[in-house]
Amino acid sequence: MVVGRHRETKAVIDLGAIYHNVAVEVSRLRKGQELFAVVKANAYGHGLLPVARVAKDAGASGFCVALIDEGLALREAGFTEPILILGVNNPLEAVIMAQNDLSVSVGDVSFLDSAAPLLRQSQLKLKVHLALDTGMGRIGFRCSNDLRQALGRLDRYVEEFEFAGLFTHFASADSKETYYFEQQLNNLNEMLKIVPTLPRYVHCANTATAMWHSGSVGNVVRYGIGMYGLNPSGTELTEPKKLRPALELVSQLIAVKQVQKGATIGYGETYLASSDEWIGTIPIGYADGWSRSLQGFSVLVDGQYCEIVGRVCMDQIMVRLPHQFKVGTKVTLIGTNGKNTITAQQVADYVHTIHYEVISALTERVQRVYVWNE
Ligand SMILES: Cc1ncc(COP(=O)(O)O)c(C=O)c1O
Repeated sequence: MVVGRHRETKAVIDLGAIYHNVAVEVSRLRKGQELFAVVKANAYGHGLLPVARVAKDAGASGFCVALIDEGLALREAGFTEPILILGVNNPLEAVIMAQNDLSVSVGDVSFLDSAAPLLRQSQLKLKVHLALDTGMGRIGFRCSNDLRQALGRLDRYVEEFEFAGLFTHFASADSKETYYFEQQLNNLNEMLKIVPTLPRYVHCANTATAMWHSGSVGNVVRYGIGMYGLNPSGTELTEPKKLRPALELVSQLIAVKQVQKGATIGYGETYLASSDEWIGTIPIGYADGWSRSLQGFSVLVDGQYCEIVGRVCMDQIMVRLPHQFKVGTKVTLIGTNGKNTITAQQVADYVHTIHYEVISALTERVQRVYVWNE
């Protein structure tokens, strides 16, 4: 993947904000609880290694990733902390995970049966976190019988696997309505009853659970979106401690021109100038993760809201300017510019999605620039 180092479109990542957000959560942990930083998907678009380093400095004692390769990238960079792969994996990958001390989520007995001979042959032990599907419907053992079977296998394959953890994931910990959360928590507690000896790690908390259900079980918080300074509920609930958003998306005007009344802008002639208008062009497009559905949304040019006119192109967008601006004028797509701010939440609302998607959709082509604001 080629990074666009020679253009003015950048994601500016405030590592000071990430440090602050992690440290705040660490200070809220109960005795014996740990925080694992969720750094999957290029740390939600913020950059895997810089985020992992600052999260560790702020008190994270482990990491969660989605892919084996993300875990390998952390190991290659020298991280020695526990790393849990949250997704399920092909048993054929068991050896590489064990060689690199990556812990794997297991939600199916067949994984254990298939991986065991490979591990035996390589004389390696793989750390396993059993996933419990208490209501998310995604991965994990859904009932006590299935869990019992998995525990039986772990008893049998003691040389091949270390039973390191048990976890579940809540579907609606970020909601005002708590009945489904409570139902899942009850299911979890029921399933835990059949485990004779609990493993080192028992965990169920994502950011929302840690924020609004901190009394629930578990000795690890898998802290994701809060680390990046965004409220997991969007605007439904208020975070207990103010978070600091860590990402700004900025660029510059690369072309400014006046078009005559009646001129059309962009592919498909979807915008017609209703008078003589100043149009600015900005080097960002859907190939950078700036969705095509953002036509009609605004960006900040020199602190002023300017509408995106015409279709979002692969590499560029056009905006209507209130007057002529100089080429090189700063543009903010997410963040503060002058007296105004555009949040990732507002971008998400406009395209009917969640801020998680907005930030993690920024492609590798957008250069990440790191700053530290106190
Ligand atoms: C299993 C699991 N745990 C924790 C997280 C982190 O969630 P959040 O970013 O809401 O804290 C995720 C994120 O998708 C996840 O899938």
